[in-house]
Amino acid sequence: MKLLTQEKINEIRNSVNIVDVISSYVSLTPRGKNYFGICPFHDDSNPSMSVSADKQIYKCFSCGATGTVFNFIMDYENISFSEAVKKVADIGGVHIELGNIKKEKNHTVQHQIYDLSLKFYMNNINTPQGKKAKEYLKKRNINEDIIKEFQIGLALNSRDALSKILKKKNFDEKELTKSGLIGKNEYGFYDLFYGRIMFPLYDLSGNVIAYSGRIYDREDNSKYFNTRETELFKKGELLYNYHRAKDIARQKNQIIIMEGFMDVIRAHSIGIKNCVASMGTAITNKQANLIKKMAKEIILCFDGDEAGAKATKACAEELNKIGTIPKVIRLEENLDPDEYIIKYGKDAFEKKIANPISIMDFELSYLKNNKNLNDAEDKTLYIKQVIDEINKIDDDILKEVTIKKIVSETNISEEVIRKHLTQKKKVPKKDAKIINSSKYEKAEKNLLYFMLKSPEIIKMYDKKVTFMPTKEYRLLAREISMYYKEHGNIDEANFIDYIEGDTDLIETIKKVNQNMSAAAYTLEEIEDYINVIKEYNINNAIERMQAKMQEIVDPIEKAEIAQKIIDLKKGV
Ligand code: CTP
Ligand code: MN
Repeated sequence: MKLLTQEKINEIRNSVNIVDVISSYVSLTPRGKNYFGICPFHDDSNPSMSVSADKQIYKCFSCGATGTVFNFIMDYENISFSEAVKKVADIGGVHIELGNIKKEKNHTVQHQIYDLSLKFYMNNINTPQGKKAKEYLKKRNINEDIIKEFQIGLALNSRDALSKILKKKNFDEKELTKSGLIGKNEYGFYDLFYGRIMFPLYDLSGNVIAYSGRIYDREDNSKYFNTRETELFKKGELLYNYHRAKDIARQKNQIIIMEGFMDVIRAHSIGIKNCVASMGTAITNKQANLIKKMAKEIILCFDGDEAGAKATKACAEELNKIGTIPKVIRLEENLDPDEYIIKYGKDAFEKKIANPISIMDFELSYLKNNKNLNDAEDKTLYIKQVIDEINKIDDDILKEVTIKKIVSETNISEEVIRKHLTQKKKVPKKDAKIINSSKYEKAEKNLLYFMLKSPEIIKMYDKKVTFMPTKEYRLLAREISMYYKEHGNIDEANFIDYIEGDTDLIETIKKVNQNMSAAAYTLEEIEDYINVIKEYNINNAIERMQAKMQEIVDPIEKAEIAQKIIDLKKGV
């Protein structure tokens, strides 16, 4: 669903130069016709991202990330297409009806319910009924500024205070119960939150979409009560404080991950503002990706207790899966960051941040926990566990360093350790990928790569192939063909905008571009790809026919199919 016409979007895109915009995020150096920089979308060490002023697109030769200025901003800032368009329009000075774009967000009935509830809760805490809550917060060193900034409020000790207010606004009943704030039984509506200090939880853009309510003056089974998962609130997809922390984290190129939102609020209040919280649950792949995009240096600063150590390990593993290696801070005396800062102060905490330990050192000290290395059994177990860890390490140097460490620590001979190491086959990642992708897939990808650049190749595809074996490539090819039919030309930047919103297609383009940098092709090479694909299709058809023939009894029909198979074979 596009709110702006394609012409307007083109006008906005053309109002800026992609090179200028990207250089405000990543430093670029000119080389030949293009500009090069470190790709922010994977762990890049050499500048693999090129930005073309001619084509107005960027492309990473290593991870395949590609797109227009809109895609770059969307991915870098983690914002929607319309938000990216708005940003570019701002930069380029193009006037657009912002109302339209904003409306898409923040104006659903659910958002309205949350906006109203927030106003209500924030007001409650300043009334006489909020006195005790204020005292509690004061005792916890949470002053008025923090209360305002983090929009901390109060759910009154009443079972229907919010329900009454919302009902007066004539919201649809279903919307009220859908919000996760209001329940309904035979007597009517009731509040799900009561007698709790309300900490708003935000989505990635900073809209309030849920609460965590803390008890402060009564006993209850649970210290915190959270809004259940709703249409707006998907716990595994957001991080507490993301919208406030992301820009600062990017500037510092450092993000600190904590367990609780109280920890984040505390750190923020002493000026350490590049913190987010996972809110007590194991981090998901989505959250790991959000973290990875914010900064290169990732520091895990979980609670100092055993549970915090376990959470650190789990979080590190999730981050490892997506190719990032975090560092770790451990806090003494089982303290959490909030308690640590209150007890030892800002300077002590900043020192901790400046000296995080490596994940390997953390693992070693974690394994050593509760073990007595003077005890033969404990020591044996420790060495075995460390060897397991070493076997997981990909980095040769880190491997060596760790071996040396354990040798000096336990006095075990290096030889014994080495005997227990599993020999990993050294297959460079890129090669492995190429080996894995079949001959056909390679042909499909290469053909698509050039279809995105040349009408000549699109025409050849339409005439000679018309069908790619792999579904995602087939869909992309079809889209390119359609675009060409409509526009009579192919321009990669325009094409990418044309398919805007279709993340599957963008992913496919990424795959097509991965490890490809050729600027020119020979027709011979193209014919080759086409023949490989055709051969695959024919072989497939033959297999299908043969399977069908097995099932058929009628001899005439059988003969017909046999003839078809012979004809197909001629084509191979
Ligand atoms: N949490 C929760 N429900 C609980 C306990 C914790 O949802 N019963 C979540 C909260 O999001 C909290 C996080 O887990 O922020 C970390 O929990 P914990 O360390 O117990 O909270 P603290 O930050 O120490 O909170 P406080 O200092 O207020 O006790
Ligand atoms: Mn705490």
